[in-house]
Amino acid sequence: MAASENKTCRFCGMAITGPVFARAGRVYCCEACVLKEREFHAVQTQREDAYVALAESLAAALDLREHETGLHSKRVACHTLVLARRYSDDAEHLRQVYWGALLHDIGKIGIPDAILLKHGSLTDEEWTVMRTHPEKGGAILASLPFMAEAAEIVRNHEERYDGSGYPRGLAGDAIPWGARLFTVIDTLDAMTSDRPYRKALSFDAARDEIRRMEDKQFDPGAVAAFLAEEARLREMVALKCGEARVPVV
Ligand SMILES: [Fe+2]
Repeated sequence: MAASENKTCRFCGMAITGPVFARAGRVYCCEACVLKEREFHAVQTQREDAYVALAESLAAALDLREHETGLHSKRVACHTLVLARRYSDDAEHLRQVYWGALLHDIGKIGIPDAILLKHGSLTDEEWTVMRTHPEKGGAILASLPFMAEAAEIVRNHEERYDGSGYPRGLAGDAIPWGARLFTVIDTLDAMTSDRPYRKALSFDAARDEIRRMEDKQFDPGAVAAFLAEEARLREMVALKCGEARVPVV
């Protein structure tokens, strides 16, 4: 800020009679516009918090239908962020990865209970229905412009690096990087969580499986990120990280 006279605010166009705020060297702004902008950012932050809280509540409700604890989505979102931070420090990218991982199975809202909660193997017809959930989820989020990147993670979260996944059979880099990171974490969480038919497996067992499936189910880069963050993820899994509210970025 510089004290000066005879300047015009570039934002409201009024002559600046009070303190002058310099912007980008030679752009000047009045105090009222600075305060207005601060207010705007405060409201934006509150709105972001509300979006995150709403998305987390929705994910928990979806999880309760399929998982006893209702915390699977929150855990995988927190853990996927650990890998994503190795590739990016861009807050918007990280937010999209968090939302995409959090809401990855939102499309299951359109899968009947008789299929989603069925004990035992699904028939071919039932699998056909089950395999529609990524597209259904992507379509749900596509109506929200601020979730465009997250929608792509949702749409591609069942793809495999070697092209053997669904719904489109994408392979390699054609799969969004957030989705490639997520699939590693989803396997970690699935294996280290209790299931109705078995107790949770050890972190080591999950790590061995992830390494075994490198280049097949998983992107080698995502596996490398997982191994580089092994100590942190091991601690997070042990602490059941994801059960408390954590900042997204
Ligand atoms: Fe899924």
